[in-house]
Amino acid sequence: MRTYISDLKKHIGEEVTLKGWVYNYRASSKKIKFLILRDGSGLCQCVYFKGECDESAIDLFSEITQESCVQVTGVPRIEERSPGGVELGAVKLELLSKSVDYPITPKEHGTDFLMNHRHLWLRSKKQHAALRVRAEIISAIRDFFDGDGFTLVDAPIFTPSSCEGTSNLFETQYFDDKAYLSQSGQLYMEAAAAAFGKAYCFGPTFRAEKSKTRRHLIEFWMVEPEVAFNDLYDNMDLAEKFVEYIIQRTIKNKADELEILGRDVSGLQKIKGDFPRLHYRDAVDIIKKENPDFIDGDDFGAPDETIISSKFEKPVFVHHFPSAIKAFYMKEDTEDKGYSFSCDMLGTEGYGEIIGGGQREESIEVLEQKIKEHELDMKDFQWYLDVRRYGSFPHSGFGLGVERTVAWICGLPHIRETIPFPRMYGRLHP
Ligand code: 4AD
Ligand code: MG
Repeated sequence: MRTYISDLKKHIGEEVTLKGWVYNYRASSKKIKFLILRDGSGLCQCVYFKGECDESAIDLFSEITQESCVQVTGVPRIEERSPGGVELGAVKLELLSKSVDYPITPKEHGTDFLMNHRHLWLRSKKQHAALRVRAEIISAIRDFFDGDGFTLVDAPIFTPSSCEGTSNLFETQYFDDKAYLSQSGQLYMEAAAAAFGKAYCFGPTFRAEKSKTRRHLIEFWMVEPEVAFNDLYDNMDLAEKFVEYIIQRTIKNKADELEILGRDVSGLQKIKGDFPRLHYRDAVDIIKKENPDFIDGDDFGAPDETIISSKFEKPVFVHHFPSAIKAFYMKEDTEDKGYSFSCDMLGTEGYGEIIGGGQREESIEVLEQKIKEHELDMKDFQWYLDVRRYGSFPHSGFGLGVERTVAWICGLPHIRETIPFPRMYGRLHP
């Protein structure tokens, strides 16, 4: 039977067999040889003493190489200095498949080289840790909504129209028709909110962003809740509870991985309770003190977001962005003309916009007008207008970008390491 490295502590003193890949090895002395085994669940130091192990195991050290696939048999014992606090008093070694000239060596490699070898780079300690954090975040996202009365409603990937503007749409042939890869499942979640009250979708979304930044992917994952009868302020309350849950759970459950990443989590630990909320106008006042060139009415650039977030220990909401810079579906605040019931959440430590959302326009007349102003094709939106024709209702929702959240929690400077196989401007392989 095979044992996983993560389970070794349950088998102290018993003989076990492990299967995995050679992470590292040292065969410097004739009497004692070390092999660090990696099996995906952890790392284990396996120690071979000449005389106490099979003679063939000692001989095999002349053949094994980094990332060779091997089987190891031995007895685990507590050893605090070893990875995982356990080491294996090894007796047998079998070479299952040899790895020849593994390209990622312990020396420094450039980012482009590593990205070209992303399929192998995933085996490295930090990449492995970041993707385990990602998996925890995704699991926390699902548990939060599933545990709060939401129904998961999957939105389509092929869509007939745009949701977030037409400038970054991915167009594709759909038999005799044209389709676009989904930029957001929101419009479908609005229909779902009328059917389920509280709904969310979670899947990949696509934006043809023709620029290379550390925050933008072409394909990214977004979770989008939508709630009937929630207004802008209820929406911010929900987003706040949600983000606090994800962060606190992840730093607790993935403490080892965050340590491997060198992440100081003391800032994240403080992300509990009320997040500050700023009207767009107040946010602009803060920005202008440090960036006098900022034009009132414009959207924030990454440096502007950093100016705001640097003033607070917790994530900040900015709400009431000018209607002119927001999507067609955003409801205008009739008591604050020109401003919308929109809200973005900015992460701490300069991680910028993590969430975008707001309250949706529920009047069919206003929506028809907005669709015209945005030069969208009215016939593509008839199904969406049905949500207003048949029992219109106030509703709100938001989208959280998974990769930006992973970068933030892991403290990664660039979004490319937050997803197993990133799609970026200028990169489609591997
Ligand atoms: O602000 P966005 O564009 O909002 C929407 O798509 C709404 N329809 C969501 C909704 O209300 N249901 O995108 C939401 C979030 C951003 O805050 C950001 O975290 C992430 O999605 N995001 C990206 N992440 C990586 N790469 C990109 N190119 C991204 N564009 C947006
Ligand atoms: Mg946005």
